Amino acid sequence: MAPSTAGAITLTINGEKHTLPVDNRTTLLDALRERLGLTGTKKGCDQGQCGACTVLLDGRRVVSCLQLAVAAEGREVTTIEGVADGERLHPVQQAFLDLDGFQCGYCTPGQICSALAVIEEHAAGWPSAATTDVRPEAGVPRLTADEIRERMSGNLCRCGAYVSIVQAVARAAEETARATGRADVADMTDVEGAA
Ligand code: FES
Ligand code: FES
Repeated sequence: MAPSTAGAITLTINGEKHTLPVDNRTTLLDALRERLGLTGTKKGCDQGQCGACTVLLDGRRVVSCLQLAVAAEGREVTTIEGVADGERLHPVQQAFLDLDGFQCGYCTPGQICSALAVIEEHAAGWPSAATTDVRPEAGVPRLTADEIRERMSGNLCRCGAYVSIVQAVARAAEETARATGRADVADMTDVEGAA
């Protein structure tokens, strides 16, 4: 008898538990879009190159087209549908809106999910390939436009809204740092220089 390729998974998506049968070969992206109707997460290249399908898995960003749904069993997924607080937009969403961080909007859900993780990664002091001083004692790196471009480089935008995206991420990072009482991090966020 051929081995079964079907299984059942339980995921917590945007705070809600979902149990669903899936073919073991189903990607997380297809499970979200086709099985759960969460179409905010977009399919661009379907091969890990564009970032349109970015979601957060236990708070870390992943391209959901390269993640098997069964490998996400028991984990927490955040999609763009779970970012706002009811009717109140998340500061990252508001900054994209205020600063024209999108044109057609197709890449935007992935950009926003990625930006959420970038802001956390920066606040935690994680260096990137653009960080000039990676010594631990150097602390939180300054979130310059170059830093934001590097950290967001897995997310492509065919409309080319990059200048506004960089400004939006910088503004949201500063606002988030101030709202969470991290003046040290806010001072490391280069809102003026982001362009
Ligand atoms: S659709 Fe997943 S990276 Fe392009
Ligand atoms: S806004 Fe159109 S692809 Fe980015």
